[in-house]
Amino acid sequence: MKVFITREIPSVAIKLLQKEKIYVEVYKKDKPIPRKDLLKGVSDVDGVISLLTDPVDKEIIDSMKKCKVIANYAAGYNNIDFLYAKEKGIVVTNTPDVLTDSTADIAMLLILNCARRINEAIKYLSDDKFTGWKPLLLLGYELKGKQLGIIGAGRIGKATALRAKAFGMKILYYNRSRNEHLERETGAKKVSLKTIMKEADIVSVHIPFNSKTNKLIDKKMLQLMKPTGILINTARGEVIDEKFLISMLKKKKIFAAGFDVYENEPFINPELKKLKNVVLLPHIGSATFESRGKMAELAAKNVIAVLKGKKTLTPV
Ligand code: DGY
Repeated sequence: MKVFITREIPSVAIKLLQKEKIYVEVYKKDKPIPRKDLLKGVSDVDGVISLLTDPVDKEIIDSMKKCKVIANYAAGYNNIDFLYAKEKGIVVTNTPDVLTDSTADIAMLLILNCARRINEAIKYLSDDKFTGWKPLLLLGYELKGKQLGIIGAGRIGKATALRAKAFGMKILYYNRSRNEHLERETGAKKVSLKTIMKEADIVSVHIPFNSKTNKLIDKKMLQLMKPTGILINTARGEVIDEKFLISMLKKKKIFAAGFDVYENEPFINPELKKLKNVVLLPHIGSATFESRGKMAELAAKNVIAVLKGKKTLTPV
């Protein structure tokens, strides 16, 4: 049996697969695999470990002659036409849970960074502008007593809310269904999306990207935010109207925004990079030794389970 991995991932995945006598081929270059190499790589293998940067669409799936499993090395799986894969009898899996804490840490980091203007402060110092303590230098906002609006109360949303509670924040959340556990643990209140946008001091986005969430946070929603508001996105860029948000940030209609994800990744709107009131990260939500190692292990275990006819650990 043969498995194709579309980029180098932690070696634990390869070790696990080889232990099961599965031959592994890895696309070794440190850049997204070109389409022609992806089409070729997946054509004659039994399983594929794909990345969120690989568009596994109908054409790619059609080129899979004997593939039984596509294990996405990510919690999100919007890069895969999973309904079509299912139609073709291919199991699709993802890597939830193991990146919850790392991503919630990054959401919290962005919240603190935006509220306390840490990027500006670091730049101020490295530009040699620091001439001593000043009463009005780089004032920001405290988190205690502020309302955090969580959009999408899944695992990462909940983990972010728990962290925010420790900072004394009050939690509002928007989710399809009630999350009683979240309510019990944090005192969170389920409200409408409009209420979150209007009332939260900090809005943190944790919804997956799909046809229903595409630009869910549109112009109308963004305009409801407080002028002191902060918007954080560690989910997927496509869920926010990025262009309109940039115009709001430019006009200081909101206080700040912190992003780990972008509408047209890896393209970053140059206007965004010019702004002082933004914190931009290169999609590193799950980038910890712990999470990335466990993601590799889980992806490999999912492949092995399918190829050995056992129960998949985390099917989508
Ligand atoms: C995911 O798993 O979907 C994350 O975006 C990876 O960091």
